[in-house]
Amino acid sequence: MTKKIAVLPGDGIGPEVVAEAVKVLERLRREFGLKIELETAPVGGAAYDLHKHPLPDATLKLAKQADAVLLGAVGGLKYDTLPRDVRPEKALLGLRAELKLFANLRPAILYPQLAAASSLKPEIVAGLDILIVRELTGDIYFGEPRGVRTLANGERQGFNTMIYAEHEVERVARVAFDAARKRGKKLCSVEKANVLEVSGLWREVVERVAKEYADVALSHMYVDNAAMQLVRAPKQFDVIVTGNIFGDILSDEAAMLTGSIGMLPSASLDSNSKGMYEPIHGSAPDIAGKGIANPLATILSVAMMLRYTLGAPVLAERIEKGVSTVLDQGVRTSDIYTDGTKKVGTTQMGDAVVAAM
Ligand code: IPM
Ligand code: MG
Repeated sequence: MTKKIAVLPGDGIGPEVVAEAVKVLERLRREFGLKIELETAPVGGAAYDLHKHPLPDATLKLAKQADAVLLGAVGGLKYDTLPRDVRPEKALLGLRAELKLFANLRPAILYPQLAAASSLKPEIVAGLDILIVRELTGDIYFGEPRGVRTLANGERQGFNTMIYAEHEVERVARVAFDAARKRGKKLCSVEKANVLEVSGLWREVVERVAKEYADVALSHMYVDNAAMQLVRAPKQFDVIVTGNIFGDILSDEAAMLTGSIGMLPSASLDSNSKGMYEPIHGSAPDIAGKGIANPLATILSVAMMLRYTLGAPVLAERIEKGVSTVLDQGVRTSDIYTDGTKKVGTTQMGDAVVAAM
């Protein structure tokens, strides 16, 4: 059966990197029997410019109907002064919530070819392969009450609510335990249970779920320590499970271990493996339009799509091997460039992967 993929390029470098990922999908369709149909729609600032809303009804409808969503990035300086409910970021949060994409998988893998591009010593990061499972539809991102209120003395006060119900922790913990079971069988749950009630409950629920996974070694870590351990000895981790805001922060940190945030894909999954796939980097307005963005994170997100939603692991491997071949060839965008390699732009990098697949 033909699978439908909603393509939402978004803002900044989003359209540039998505165009390269689409080339990869097109080649799989033409030559490797992948049955897909692509439909593009505006999202984020691009949608706001057209429809005065970052997530127009038609885009949301398409995303809901599709089997998978490929997203570039949203956001840009010119939208930062808009009211919060029509800012580009709202589209991303809206898609996550509306599609119930509660489990966000963010692998941080260091390609051996890029060991020199990491800001950490090669021996600290060589062979790094960790998976961050970030809860994506709860926590302080969505918690109520939220807002800015004026106190009796006239001073304004901003507030958000960090909140997790047991079922939210339980389902993301299961995803993480399942993932750990298929990998190194180690799971580290990250929270701030020494201070926060919500974290205390998180820990309790994770321990309860752990009883079903006797083969997975569970540990707990406070988020401040986890941030430190990630740069001190990142290879101690296999799978990390954490809440929305801690996962947001730790996954950017983990990205840097691998040399560039331009390398990291992600999958956001619902309970039926429907997914939205996107690079973890943002719209990078500073380099947008220059044709120098690294498309590999988006291309690798397509590999995740093939594996998790389209049931085509062999094609996923074909993409991943293609990326590895291109890195072997010394082809580099500027974010991963080191002396002695060959610097290329976004489209050349995409073409190189398509050719190497
Ligand atoms: C991410 C991004 C988003 C988030 C922003 C753009 C809303 O940083 O996907 O990590 O905070 O979740
Ligand atoms: Mg982030």
